[in-house]
Amino acid sequence: MDESARSKFLNMVRAHQERGDPCGWCDQVYRDAGGDVTAVFWADLVPNPYLLDWLENHPANSDKLRAVTVGCGVGDDAEALAACGYQVTAFDVSPAAIALCRQRYPDSRVNYVVADLFNHPQEWTLGFDLVFECNTIQVLPGDYRVRALNAIAAMVAPGGDALISCRSRNTGEKEDAFPLPLDRPEIDGFVRAGLREESFVVYDDEQVPPVEHFFAWYSRR
Ligand SMILES: C[S@@+](CC[C@H](N)C(=O)[O-])C[C@H]1O[C@@H](n2cnc3c(N)ncnc32)[C@H](O)[C@@H]1O
Repeated sequence: MDESARSKFLNMVRAHQERGDPCGWCDQVYRDAGGDVTAVFWADLVPNPYLLDWLENHPANSDKLRAVTVGCGVGDDAEALAACGYQVTAFDVSPAAIALCRQRYPDSRVNYVVADLFNHPQEWTLGFDLVFECNTIQVLPGDYRVRALNAIAAMVAPGGDALISCRSRNTGEKEDAFPLPLDRPEIDGFVRAGLREESFVVYDDEQVPPVEHFFAWYSRR
């Protein structure tokens, strides 16, 4: 995205945030794509490689395991989970994102749903054996972040797992960035929310210049 497009984008995000609609701008991005997934600038159009690696090392031991993809975007991660045998619910607050998923995967076994992390069906609480979150918290402002983190943690069933992928930063750095990467104290909120940290990876992705990331695995065991 060039400077002028980025500045226009940030103004659109700010306008939504200022009118108390912190997630509405996402739908605009998907709608502007006009059915062309390659126009969704954050969509890699391949599953998260760290998710694939975890799934390979922890094969599903039953065809009854339920997984959820939070803020599922255009569906690659949800499809990877379904391919590994999970019964997958993939939700996004953006109706246009869910429409793109259904357009891409018309015969999918994934249950694609328009839903808001802050107001989701009650049965999703403690409802999933595997919760996958990638890059949703970091696009939210202020108090919405801790609310999102707690809502994601609360979806993990007893005995279940959560995998969290996000941009990262050192505490005190990049405070004005958008998206705002998570720092270690912030992501540790998953432990404060009652989950156990199983593994924690800090890495740079392959963009030029590289972007720092966390990939964290938590459980409710
Ligand atoms: C940066 S995108 C990441 C999408 C996808 N997870 C990925 O990695 O490509 C953030 C996603 O979170 C969704 N989102 C934002 N707020 C949400 C909410 N309150 N409930 C559900 N989804 C939300 C957006 O619509 C968007 O699809």
